[in-house]
Amino acid sequence: MRIVKRSLLAKSLFWTLAVMLLSLSAGVSYAQTGEELFSKKCVSCHTIGGGDVVGPDLLGITEKRDREWLIRIIVDPDSFLDDPIRQENIAKYGVKMPDLGLSEEEAVKIIEFLSQFAAQPSEATPEETPEIQLGDPEIGRALFIGELRFTNGGPPCVACHSVRSAGINGGTLAKDLSDLYARLGDRGVYGALKSLQFPVMKDIYAGKELTDEEVAHLAALFKEASETNRAKSDIYPLSGIVVFLVAIGIATVYFRRVG
Ligand code: HEC
Ligand code: HEC
Repeated sequence: MRIVKRSLLAKSLFWTLAVMLLSLSAGVSYAQTGEELFSKKCVSCHTIGGGDVVGPDLLGITEKRDREWLIRIIVDPDSFLDDPIRQENIAKYGVKMPDLGLSEEEAVKIIEFLSQFAAQPSEATPEETPEIQLGDPEIGRALFIGELRFTNGGPPCVACHSVRSAGINGGTLAKDLSDLYARLGDRGVYGALKSLQFPVMKDIYAGKELTDEEVAHLAALFKEASETNRAKSDIYPLSGIVVFLVAIGIATVYFRRVG
């Protein structure tokens, strides 16, 4: 008996570690295409059609600025701070675009990625959603922790994220999303949930996009979370177990795909 139990424990530990390692290595090796570079280096400050966040919305930017200028601001933003457009933007946003140590080749890839959004502003851009409707935060919570399933079969967010301010203690693979709303605002949150274009997540939710209603419910949860700064203590008692089971589930899916 004891041996059986121990090997079970070893197995579950193995899977948990495997998921973490896989996800991490996935995150690293993704720094390849323009889209992946963008989702690693730029999304914390820019959206494409989701509105201004820390920096300006980059929807249509390749039509607004010429290529040389764009390469320069991405590769060496500190070299032309006296440019009138820069001065205006720095005054408006109160921060300057950081030097991210990218090469010209990487900048070109990112610009190519961005140029897709100029030619055909997709129907999914929140810019065209006249008003952002927030849903029901309780449904958002149920979806987040996996009590309710996502229509298109995506895994619950709690596998990798916590929202501690809403009392949800989930996986630690990715950021705690407590302050998401405060950081991004309506449009930013909506844009981020609509696209889920972040490393790791992008693949897991490919073909399993959230529906508009689900996005609205989750956005409501994040809004509530940023308002009520609830103590860590009233945590869903089962969330630890749920997280563990979900992690194993994801691992299985991953391994089936890989193997
Ligand atoms: C820490 C926040 C931050 C990050 C990360 C960041 N930017 Fe910026 N970006 C800004 C800010 C603030 C401005 C406006 C002020 C300025 O020009 O310095 C800006 C300006 C820009 C502009 C000019 C916009 C215009 O209207 O002319 C482009 C293009 C741009 N960023 C692209 C990128 C790309 C591509 C990345 C990722 C490789 C990136 N930024 C990463 C904050 C950021
Ligand atoms: C398999 C793990 C995994 C799952 C499941 C997952 N995410 Fe993520 N998520 C990540 C990783 C990794 C990142 C990028 C790194 C980070 O922000 O920590 C990320 C980033 C994000 C970001 C950007 C964070 C920021 O502050 O810029 C948001 C928003 C987000 N996830 C929301 C969600 C939502 C909503 C769900 C459920 C529908 C979800 N995630 C499910 C792994 C996951």
